[in-house]
Amino acid sequence: MHYKMKPHRILVIGSSNMDMTVKADRLPSPGETVLGGTFAMGYGGKGANQAVAAKRLGGDVKFVCKVGHDSFGEMALKKYAVEGLDISDIMFSSFPTGVALITVNSEAENSIVVASGANADISVADIRALRPVIENASILLLQLEIPVDAVLEAASIAVGAGVQVILNPAPAAEIPEELFRHVSLIIPNRTELSVLTGRNVDDMDSVRSAVMELKTMGAKAVIVTLGAGGSCLSLEGSTEIETVPARKVSAVDTTAAGDTFCGALCVSLSEGKDIRTAMAFASAAASLTVTRMGAMDAIPFRSEADTLIF
Ligand code: ATP
Ligand code: RIB
Repeated sequence: MHYKMKPHRILVIGSSNMDMTVKADRLPSPGETVLGGTFAMGYGGKGANQAVAAKRLGGDVKFVCKVGHDSFGEMALKKYAVEGLDISDIMFSSFPTGVALITVNSEAENSIVVASGANADISVADIRALRPVIENASILLLQLEIPVDAVLEAASIAVGAGVQVILNPAPAAEIPEELFRHVSLIIPNRTELSVLTGRNVDDMDSVRSAVMELKTMGAKAVIVTLGAGGSCLSLEGSTEIETVPARKVSAVDTTAAGDTFCGALCVSLSEGKDIRTAMAFASAAASLTVTRMGAMDAIPFRSEADTLIF
């Protein structure tokens, strides 16, 4: 893929959450209480995780999000500054900072409920005010944890300025057709691919069919993340699917695996690497995240990922 590369800056516009995580033997059924868990509070939010991943893994990253006038918001801003993110255009809301309630089971799987708060208060007008910031990026990385009309506006401004738009359509939701036109690379996981296309996605044949369906809906290049099954790539205009295996690791918590993958991929692309090299780097980085508890806390640094690649 060839894109007009401006000052190799990765811009992430997305959510900021405080994560409350309980690790338990199993996820509760509706109406059930499961005892015996351990609790941890940590920083999270898909936008924040992806921005921190890109920064820790070597990117030049600006992060824009909206937080409340509350202690979680204050803590998050301090954390982002410590991580070295450019947060000069952070926004404030009268709604509280986002909170995610996460349960992780002994298989490292999670279920998450998000109280979006300030994340849901990002408006189209807020995004329009960011036009110069968006136009100055080389890659714009977006997710769906903020309102989709804001995502669409950001993508539209970016594409008009020759900025590459990458979308991680998480959490799973349908998206307007117009958004596909602005996005050069979309990175769903299996569930998100299924929701986007309305198809069952359980084996590689169904992944392939759903990816082709996604392309008929307007998607260009597609990467599907497949958890321990790795990831697969279908380039724009191609009917081929190439797979990249995941490293074999002992997973304890997969939260933020997808976020690490997306952040890492953007770093590699911003360094001018080809998409396959970028996927190998992203897989290596994400394989480290799943071996550690938590979301942002689990994201590796460049030196750790490099030792797995070179
Ligand atoms: P999240 O749990 O953050 O929502 P996700 O569902 O968005 O994650 P996954 O497809 O689970 O994303 O994982 C993203 C990438 O992380 C995979 O493509 C793979 O490279 C790596 N990964 C995830 N789980 C494992 C695992 N158990 N072992 C090794 N690598 C993994
Ligand atoms: O992708 C992981 C993130 O999803 C968590 O950090 C949580 O905040 C939820 O938004």
